[in-house]
Amino acid sequence: LSWYFHQMSVQLEGIRFEALFMNCTRSLGASFGAEVLDFQLTGTPSGNDIAAIRELWAEHKLLLFRDQSFDEAALVGFSRQFGDLEIHVREEYLSPEHPEVLYVSNIERDGQRIGILSDSEVGWHYDQIYLPKPAVGSLLMADTLPPEGGNTEFADMCAAWEALPEATREKLDGCLANQSYEAFNQAYSVPTNNKQKARSPDIHHPIVRTHPVTGRKALYLCPGMTTEIVGWHADESAEMLVFLFDWTTKPEFVYSHAWQPGDALMWDNACTMHRRDPFDPHHDRLMKRTTILPPAELAVPY
Ligand code: SIN
Repeated sequence: LSWYFHQMSVQLEGIRFEALFMNCTRSLGASFGAEVLDFQLTGTPSGNDIAAIRELWAEHKLLLFRDQSFDEAALVGFSRQFGDLEIHVREEYLSPEHPEVLYVSNIERDGQRIGILSDSEVGWHYDQIYLPKPAVGSLLMADTLPPEGGNTEFADMCAAWEALPEATREKLDGCLANQSYEAFNQAYSVPTNNKQKARSPDIHHPIVRTHPVTGRKALYLCPGMTTEIVGWHADESAEMLVFLFDWTTKPEFVYSHAWQPGDALMWDNACTMHRRDPFDPHHDRLMKRTTILPPAELAVPY
């Protein structure tokens, strides 16, 4: 009997926290995204907080936490509650103290950029879609911001999939696409060295994924890294990709985030892609990112 009452109280506690969090969010985009109000990220969140954030993350796909004051250790500690963390292939841009943290920055120290992606536009992409078990989430924390520019935009790839004409969905479901980190680097970044190239070869992944938690399907392709639909004639593949890139980036599927000091964003990297606006190179910008990997049983093809 005491075990039964214990379970009841655990469940009630869970419901209480869920209710608490449900009243503590504000919508961001038309179909997705929520600001989680009055919540401080820490390196040692409680079990109830983790469960509630997990649910909100799956439901809203993109979570905003404002007015955060946490350090890299806390960023790593918090992110780790949601999966193993990827050590990015670009080791020259990792935090010296916490290799799980990737710097995205235009700042130079001793003649070297400390971060990836500098100050120019960054095209639409899914983080690390080129891995055999691609990342399912990312947490990006604003450290230093320019006075304007550098907005990060997100596209809801579930909504984009669901709004496609039935005939297009039937044509795409079950297809594979080629994902290329090399293509992204040529367009938006600096070249990888030979060791990094060997660690990030092109890879084929399903063009449509089913989210393991919500069961919703999402388009799994992005202008920055998807180069062709496998097995299709080159012209037909190019035509379909151009159509899908235009389709998925229509304003009704997109949320644009104007960063404020203290912001942290956590996104579902299995059903949202993102891009970044350029900003004035005379101003510094430093963002710190962790990238969350899935457990083997929930990786692609989900
Ligand atoms: C990223 O693509 O992960 C970075 C986005 C940004 O710099 O805002």
